This record gives sequence, structure tokens and C-alpha cells, in this order.
Amino acid sequence: MPMKTVGLTYDLKTDYKFKKGDPADANAEFDHPSTIDVIAKAIQSNGFKTKLIGNATNLMEQIDSLGVDIVFNISEGLTGRNRESQVPMLLEMAGVPFVGADALTLGLTLDKVMAKKIFIADGIPTPKFFEVSSMEALTNFDHCKFPLIVKPRFEGSSKGLSESSRVEDMQGLKKQVEFIIKTYKQPALVEEFISGSEFTVAIVGNETPEIMPIVQIKIDGKLQLKDKFYTFARITSDRLEYICPAKINEELKNKINDLALRVYRAVDCQDFGRVDFRVDSSGQPYVLEINPLPSLSTEDVFMLLATTIGITYEQMIGKILNSAIKRHGLDLVK
Ligand SMILES: Nc1ncnc2c1ncn2[C@@H]1O[C@H](COP(=O)(O)OP(=O)(O)OP(=O)(O)O)[C@@H](O)[C@H]1O
Ligand SMILES: [Mg+2]
Repeated sequence: MPMKTVGLTYDLKTDYKFKKGDPADANAEFDHPSTIDVIAKAIQSNGFKTKLIGNATNLMEQIDSLGVDIVFNISEGLTGRNRESQVPMLLEMAGVPFVGADALTLGLTLDKVMAKKIFIADGIPTPKFFEVSSMEALTNFDHCKFPLIVKPRFEGSSKGLSESSRVEDMQGLKKQVEFIIKTYKQPALVEEFISGSEFTVAIVGNETPEIMPIVQIKIDGKLQLKDKFYTFARITSDRLEYICPAKINEELKNKINDLALRVYRAVDCQDFGRVDFRVDSSGQPYVLEINPLPSLSTEDVFMLLATTIGITYEQMIGKILNSAIKRHGLDLVK
């Protein structure tokens, strides 16, 4: 069989042109060329040729002459609430199979309020919340108790999160909600702040998904995070560490794994994904969000997970790719 070709769709940090008034973290979700390079090499080491396609605009220009058997999509999209869905939608329209979740799942999960409504409908615990789309609307929220955390409704990569995001009173809340609405031009999602510890769980596969060892987040050398949380500054510093497998008891481990799989299925994740949790001081886990397009950078958790389960990064990428190949019923493996 001739060697098959895997196309790659992605957004580079340099694809984003900063506009006046943009926050410093505006391009935080996009990838470095080195990440694309490393993924392409990993795909090649699994016996495929690769073709670098680029972002949604580049894909549109080539859609009739792609010449690929499947696309490995890690495109975050440049603008709008549906930005992560743009590449998958184009591929779906053109009938090109691709790795990862489809447009509906990506749109649904990028919008944290929509995703939380699904979690609640499925009985999956998630922090109590309310949404504020204008300062005038910031009135009634009796069901939520301070301290609260204020986040943008549809961003990732801890965009908009700083030490001031955790608020203890009305004054702090107003200030932070105003900051999010003005800076990120979208509603603020306000949640009860879960003091305690933090975990993230990756899943790979479809019919019989493989739940990876639980990763625990350490901040400033502490596992009991209490009021500490990921901020944009922390993500970009070295004050954050991952512990894997997490040092937790079987009961909590089972609860977290069970919830991770339920979330994965609730939003129809495909091939791979990562679920973020906070656990309160009584041991109750809460799902913060699911990332159907988690970072595959070698500095992120998938690399650490590969090492933990005794495989290489290339084999981890191969696992994800092969899940998609199998799901699409393609005969691509040499
Ligand atoms: N309700 C909460 N209670 C405590 N901490 C929270 C809460 N919500 C968010 N955080 C903190 O903020 C971080 C980022 O929040 P979240 O995962 O919702 O957003 P994100 O920007 O999409 O994340 P990522 O960086 O994983 O893309 C979490 O990892 C956690 O440290
Ligand atoms: Mg997160």
C-alpha cells in the first residue's frame, strides 16, 4: 500500500495580528511552530506522510485539492465563539475525515456556560454559577456564595485569569465582571470558588476509551491549593508543576475517573480529550470544563502521560491518530 498522508490544521501564534485594545493573552491558545513540527514528526514516525495545511483560511483555499487521507486537527480558530468549529465544519463539508471532536462538540465546550448546562442535565457536579452579560444585569445571585471566581465565558488557556479573578465581595465582583466584559467582549461566567485541590484527566479512544493516570496540579510547591489557582501568569511561569499519577486514595480516584468518562461521553468527545476538576476540602469533585482539543505540546500533560504509562510521545500521538482511523473505518495503517 502506498504511504498515506495526514494533513495538519493549526493556528500559529504568529497568525494572530494583535489589534489595539487586545489583552496581552490574546494569542495564548495558539501554537508555536515547534509544536506543529513535533506533531508532524510524530505522525511520520507512525508511518505516514504529513502535509502542513495551516489554519481555516489556508484550508478553505486548498479544500478542493487537499490530497490527504485524514486531517489531524489542532486548530483553535482565530475569532468568535465558534472558532474551534470552523476547521472541523469545513472538513465535514468537504467529506474529509479528521482526528478529534466535531464542530458541535467544540462549539458547545468552548462555551463554558453551554457545557455546564449539559453537565447539570447529566447530573455531573460542576460549581454553581451565573452569567453576567452587562453591568446592569449584575443583581440577583442568591444561590452562589462568595468567594467567587470570574472567568470569560468562551476562552481557554486561562485567558482573563489573574489573582484578581477570585473575588470575596461585591466590590471585587463588579470590578472583575466589568474587566471581562470590556476586555474580552463577552459575558462573564461567575462560579463559586472551589477551595482545595486540582486535577486533570486525559482520555484517549472511543468505544473503549482509555482513561489516563490522573494528573494533579501543584502550585508554589503545594498540592493543597486552597485559594491558589491557575492564572495566565502562572501558566507562563515555572510556578506550576504536574504530579502524575496523583497521590490520592482509591475512592477519590474512582470518583474522578468515573466523572471524566461521563463528561467525555456527555459532550460526544472523539479520539482524545481532557477534563479539568477542582476537589473541595470534603473530597467532592467538581468538573470545571472539558477540553476536546487539549494542548499536545511536549511541555503539556500528554507528554507527561506518555512517560507515565511507559510509551513515547510519538506513540501517544499514534494512539490518538489510530483511534480516529478506526472510528472512521479507514484502511490506512501500513
Ligand atoms: N470554580 C473554580 N474554583 C476554583 N478554581 C477555579 C474555578 N474555575 C476555574 N478555576 C481555576 O482557573 C483555572 C482555569 O479555569 P478553566 O479550566 O475553567 O479555564 P480555561 O482557561 O479554559 O482552562 P485551560 O487553561 O485548561 O484552558 C482552573 O485550572 C483553576 O485553577
Ligand atoms: Mg482548564
